Amino acid sequence: MRVLLTGGAGFIGSNLVYYILSHRIDWEVINVDALTYAGNLENLKACETNPKYHFVHADITDTAKMRDVFEEYRPDAVMHLAAESHVDRSVFDPLIFVRTNVLGTQVLLDEFRRLGGDGRFLQVSTDEVYGTLGATGYFTEVTPLSPNSPYSASKAGSDFLVRAAHETHKMDTIITRCSNNYGPYQFPEKLIPLMIANAVEGKPLPVYGKGLNVRDWLFVEDHCAALATVLEKGRSGEVYNIGGNNERKNIDIVRMILKELKAPDSLIRFVEDRPGHDLRYAIDASKIERELGWSPRHTFEEALPLTIRWYLDHLDWVSRVKSGEYLKYYDLQYGKRLKE
Ligand code: NAD
Ligand code: DAU
Repeated sequence: MRVLLTGGAGFIGSNLVYYILSHRIDWEVINVDALTYAGNLENLKACETNPKYHFVHADITDTAKMRDVFEEYRPDAVMHLAAESHVDRSVFDPLIFVRTNVLGTQVLLDEFRRLGGDGRFLQVSTDEVYGTLGATGYFTEVTPLSPNSPYSASKAGSDFLVRAAHETHKMDTIITRCSNNYGPYQFPEKLIPLMIANAVEGKPLPVYGKGLNVRDWLFVEDHCAALATVLEKGRSGEVYNIGGNNERKNIDIVRMILKELKAPDSLIRFVEDRPGHDLRYAIDASKIERELGWSPRHTFEEALPLTIRWYLDHLDWVSRVKSGEYLKYYDLQYGKRLKE
């Protein structure tokens, strides 16, 4: 099977490329990525010469370019991860979220459909489209969408376009909605890698509000396993929630990181809250467990230390990301000779 995977140079995307190349050895992966600030080809150094892996530098909102890409590679399936993904950035610059997340998704749907095949389109979405929960309850696949940030609103918009492609054009689409991922290669603007990086440098750890917001955390490799399973076995037109059964308050996560690094709690700084900060996300993932036999394999107690160890072993990666040096990797490595 030939899979066109968008956003493969990002956090989940690069983990997914490696997961597919090692767990689905008969699949071929075409990674289409615009290499925004969040895309780092250095993440994929270990597979860049693998004959089953191809990289195409392209923006998913570029219709003409995407038409060429689909015609050249004629993929059997699309795994769509490319997105603007950071909530805080969406508060200040929402238009780029609408452009990539909404417009880009429709371009992919149109150009995949134009090929005339019956391939599957997997939309990788987020639990944030459901909005926020109080102290109790869980998001199920039929919870009404009620997004609260420009990021989650743009992801909800793209989910509706995917749904519409299924209803209107009978495209074979599936939507997955996952909770917070953590693991290697996550950009250090997100909670866990930011806190690790700051603690290592002895810098303050900014905790929004009182740190009482709750997220459900899933190790990225478990998410990748779920996505491969859904692509293979999911039912067309369905939504599958993916979660870790692992709810934590932000402050508890930060304290766990400090303890693991033997750094003092005095580094914690309670700072101004995120505008529209969702209080709690919690996922009911019983549908994917029941129908497709997927469940998370890693516990937080096991995978958080593994993640911290990965960042400690890759402090050079962190420092290249923080300095912007990583942005040169593509030019230096490829001299932009690859397909533009
Ligand atoms: P990320 O920000 O780390 O990576 C996004 C990737 O998309 C980057 O490589 C970037 O270069 C690429 N990209 C951005 N705009 C593009 C464009 N216009 N054309 C082509 N490529 C473009 O994101 P992530 O955290 O890996 O998330 C991947 C997907 O999973 C997103 O769709 C996100 O909404 C979803 N998701 C993420 C999480 C999480 O916890 N990180 C949880 C649930 C769902
Ligand atoms: O739930 C899935 C979503 O998880 C994905 O769709 C998003 O792409 C991904 O970025 C993530 O969104 P969050 O907003 O939950 O993740 P973030 O790491 O930005 O923040 C996690 C929590 O930590 C949130 O309650 C805000 C808080 N936080 C975050 C940062 C960056 C802090 O307290 N301080 C910080 O500096």
